[in-house]
Amino acid sequence: DMSPEERHFQDRVDANEKIEPKDWMPDGYRKTLIRQIAQHAHSEVVGQLPEGNWITRAPTLERKAILLAKVQDEAGHGLYLYCAAETLGISRDELTEKLLDGSMKYSSIFNYPTLTWADIGAVGWLVDGAAIMNQVPLQRTSYGPYSRAMIRICKEESFHQRQGFDIMMKMAQGTEAQRRMAQDALNRFWYPSLMMFGPSDKDSVHSAQSMAWKIKINTNDELRQKFVDQTVPQAHYLGLTVPDDDLRFNDETGHWDFSEPDWSEFYEVLKGNGPCNEERMAARRKAWDDGAWVREGLMAHAGKRSHRTAA
Ligand code: 3HC
Repeated sequence: DMSPEERHFQDRVDANEKIEPKDWMPDGYRKTLIRQIAQHAHSEVVGQLPEGNWITRAPTLERKAILLAKVQDEAGHGLYLYCAAETLGISRDELTEKLLDGSMKYSSIFNYPTLTWADIGAVGWLVDGAAIMNQVPLQRTSYGPYSRAMIRICKEESFHQRQGFDIMMKMAQGTEAQRRMAQDALNRFWYPSLMMFGPSDKDSVHSAQSMAWKIKINTNDELRQKFVDQTVPQAHYLGLTVPDDDLRFNDETGHWDFSEPDWSEFYEVLKGNGPCNEERMAARRKAWDDGAWVREGLMAHAGKRSHRTAA
């Protein structure tokens, strides 16, 4: 059963106290937080790739500026989260190496390609919409640095979702060709967005412990349902069809009944067999290698500077 420290720790979590870096914490708490925060940070960094693909192709200067700002925000979100992970005693270099050697992941959604401009709308509307659904509760997570990072990130996310929905509105209410492009983007991003919330609760490896430690505030299925309930009316407002023939409003429960994603596809993507896994990892490896000279230069400079002040 629990040691006195674990009992005291759990009492603090149950009392909604924030756990800070210097506080005692179970090894398992530290380990699962490093896992989740780092994979969240990796998701923010890899998530810039599908959108970055369209910065040079945006249809207007205004759209280019908005997309540039959003991609820059994602880099900042990654920074906040790597800093939160570092407070748990692991370095950013180690975290990057774990991403590149495959022992740490990033969100499956970024292994899907952005083939058209409407995809950039669907990514903002659906992917950032799902991310907000998942991140808002995380503002109340028990680990202080993670909670504070989430509060900052959530402030910027609503703009990401709004600009995506705005693109979808423009396309859905545009020419027939634009409407078809928007529908195609919804068709391709709907199920991968549902997968962002993780496997169904019965298959979730970490949920029970993460809920007990208030690392996870809601279950995967709860947030997925909330996302569907909010997003289906938005799709109808756009005059688009959600690609799910069994979607129907359940008057008893007040929720939308919907078809689960193809979980075999989900686990294939996690294994590295998604449409863009190779490309994403190659891009991150190239960035790491191409940036080596900058890191070495900065370290040499810092070394010289500290040496001078020492002398
Ligand atoms: N993609 C990749 N891996 C996933 C996944 C997904 N969509 N969903 C679940 N997994 C992995 C888990 O990481 C875990 O594997 P691991 O042990 O190797 O880490 C395994 O599948 C089992 O899933 P669990 O439900 O047991 O895992 P969690 O309790 O960690 O729940 C989670 C998964 C809901 C994603 C949770 O980790 C979480 O809330 N993470 C923080 C939020 C986050 O990372 N969001 C990424 C969204 S993208 C983003 O934020 C960028 C935005 O700005 C666009």
